[in-house]
Amino acid sequence: MNWNQIRALFPAAEHYTYLNTAAAPPLSILAAREGKRYYDEMAEHGDIPWESWLCQAEQIREKLATLVNAQARGVAFTCSTSHGMNLIAGMLGHCGDVLCPADEFPSCTCLGFSSGIEWILCAREIVASSI
Ligand SMILES: Cc1ncc(COP(=O)(O)O)c(C=O)c1O
Repeated sequence: MNWNQIRALFPAAEHYTYLNTAAAPPLSILAAREGKRYYDEMAEHGDIPWESWLCQAEQIREKLATLVNAQARGVAFTCSTSHGMNLIAGMLGHCGDVLCPADEFPSCTCLGFSSGIEWILCAREIVASSI
């Protein structure tokens, strides 16, 4: 693995040491290119390529599963970080309360609040020490 080649795929790495990946990490040029391709196709054809996009999503699901040594059916795509966190909280809600830092990014918990899941907000140090 050539880290210099990988690093070169992330132009922001030339200017920053970026530690907060959260929901807005610097994109690789490959991801940016694919995102542009998607929007170009949308602009040109609407959702006519829908079947092709579904096919590509399944291929990517397979690749991701291989990367993390999982099965493809265990890999899900979510619309955003918040969407993912709220889905997980919903799935685990029957196991008990959901513990999260009081200063969690608001959108990560707001859906959970309205869905009846019991969220316990506390200081980050308490969450960290309970893991
Ligand atoms: C630290 C942090 N967590 C979570 C989020 C929410 O991410 P998303 O917009 O993907 O739901 C953000 C959004 O900027 C963020 O900065």
